[in-house]
Amino acid sequence: MDIILHGPPGAGKGTQSENICEKLGIVAISTGDLIRTEIKNGTELGKTVKAYSSQGRLVPDETVMQILAKRLEQDDVANGVLFDGFPRTSNQAKMLKEWLGARGRSVNAVFSLEITDEEAMFRCTYRLTNPETKKTYHIYYHKPKILARSETDQTPIFACPNGTKLVMRDDALPSKVQTRIDTYHAETKPLLEQLEKDFNYKVFKVDGMPYIDDIKEEINQIIQENLR
Ligand code: AP5
Repeated sequence: MDIILHGPPGAGKGTQSENICEKLGIVAISTGDLIRTEIKNGTELGKTVKAYSSQGRLVPDETVMQILAKRLEQDDVANGVLFDGFPRTSNQAKMLKEWLGARGRSVNAVFSLEITDEEAMFRCTYRLTNPETKKTYHIYYHKPKILARSETDQTPIFACPNGTKLVMRDDALPSKVQTRIDTYHAETKPLLEQLEKDFNYKVFKVDGMPYIDDIKEEINQIIQENLR
């Protein structure tokens, strides 16, 4: 089973991916996480993509494919993949179709999580991430614990329950989030219609505004009724 998880910044793609993978017995691959790992490791690819991703612009198709191809060489992709945040352009969708087709596979479903631009901004600017587990928190919605306060201005230093210090992403500044939202509307949102009409994929639109558990329940129902 191969699934595409589509949606604007902060729609909850990463938040919902673990449950979908568990239900379908597949692995999640987030191109955003792969890109951030290349940057963190200081690889040549990481140096190439840093300027794009830290500004909230799309990384060029060929480079994303190069990064993704390395991950797709691992054995765990054999049973199926949840592609989180990929494809974002029609070129990427064609490349994915070819990669799956060469293995006798095709996309079984597309989940599109939908939220307003205001909510996307609020979720992305107040998100905190555990750099080791990649688990996300939100300063208002999913409060992490306060580890300490900075000596200079008393601003809180946040941590997850086991004490790991949480970090904010490089692209979390409001101006960068706005670029990501604009990029989504200009380049990625139009792809959804193409995936349905030109690629003939089954698209399930899911309201991403309710509570996390309510969205999870809706997704589980779609899986139960359509993908079993
Ligand atoms: P990427 O990392 O994929 O970022 P994104 O698409 O902007 O999505 P996010 O990771 O910000 O949000 P999410 O939907 O996963 O939300 P989350 O679950 O964390 O990409 C980053 C960059 O890499 C791109 O800008 C681009 O430069 C590059 N890139 C990546 N893929 C590419 C590609 N294919 N081609 C070209 N370039 C590419 O949730 C967000 C917050 O909200 C969290 O704090 C969470 O706790 C909270 N939350 C989630 N759901 C709810 C809810 N229902 N209610 C309340 N709070 C919620």
